[in-house]
Amino acid sequence: MKLLGKVAIVTGGAQGLGRGFAEGLLRKGAKVCICDINSATGLATIGSWNKEFGAGKSMFLKCDVTNHDQFEGVMKKVIKEFGGVDILVNNAGVNGEEPDTWRRTIQINMIGVIEGTMLASTYMDKTAGGRGGLVVNIASTAGLTPIFYAPVYAGSKYGVVGYTRSMAANPSARETGISYAALCPAFTNTQLFNKTHSAQKEIKDEILNQVSKVVTDTGIQTVADVVNGFLLLVEADSNNGTVMAVSKQKGIQYINKRRRKPQTNKL
Ligand SMILES: NC(=O)c1ccc[n+]([C@@H]2O[C@H](COP(=O)([O-])OP(=O)(O)OC[C@H]3O[C@@H](n4cnc5c(N)ncnc54)[C@H](O)[C@@H]3O)[C@@H](O)[C@H]2O)c1
Repeated sequence: MKLLGKVAIVTGGAQGLGRGFAEGLLRKGAKVCICDINSATGLATIGSWNKEFGAGKSMFLKCDVTNHDQFEGVMKKVIKEFGGVDILVNNAGVNGEEPDTWRRTIQINMIGVIEGTMLASTYMDKTAGGRGGLVVNIASTAGLTPIFYAPVYAGSKYGVVGYTRSMAANPSARETGISYAALCPAFTNTQLFNKTHSAQKEIKDEILNQVSKVVTDTGIQTVADVVNGFLLLVEADSNNGTVMAVSKQKGIQYINKRRRKPQTNKL
């Protein structure tokens, strides 16, 4: 998709990866709405973008992605202000595994993503007055491989990958003009990663050593590394069903690209 003149919504876009994705889209000439529960950071982010990209290119709307009415309000407001929506990035996510936090992890990471995807399927549908476009669901490499110290988080991200691939596999997705793709970053230097890492200082040494080994082997990438992969995915002509992983260790990988048939040498 060519990004000049397009309109995008990025959930959880006040900081971290979401802010990076939104900034990448702004640089390519798109208009962006970030929605987040953190108004102070969200508004500060828009303040700096107004200086960098000009007023009217971006806006902040307060929204908890687990709240249907708030999320639908964002869709309606963006369509009213920017004329339509071409891209939804379901990025908002948290990591909590404790008795009082794990349900919220599922609510935000899984149910929030389904909520947004369903709203996009309604408001972006070409056959119902929308413009078609792309939904990018932010999963994780924790949605591709088991993570023994974060099973709820991994379960939520496996859910995002399976849900997104299933949406993309629906034959009627073609007539709506909407494509569905999942992006799976590995460890990235953001608040979510650093908070999770410092919380792990509480756990047993032996387990901590194993976690540290996983992190050391995989490496910690920058937000810019992930944004490079994200823009490649979004700008591709054909991206329905794409699952892209991005890690320091292996760079950008397409997880489910069809393998070419082995060449046979015909004499
Ligand atoms: N950082 C990593 O290592 C990493 C790796 C793989 C995947 N991810 C995923 O990337 C996404 C972004 O994570 P990040 O690392 O930038 O985290 P972050 O904590 O820096 O940013 C997350 C943003 O989401 C917002 N948010 C939280 N709950 C929300 C809700 N209910 N509604 C709206 N906004 C909400 C927060 O206020 C925050 O601005 C998440 O889905 C995360 O699971 C991160």
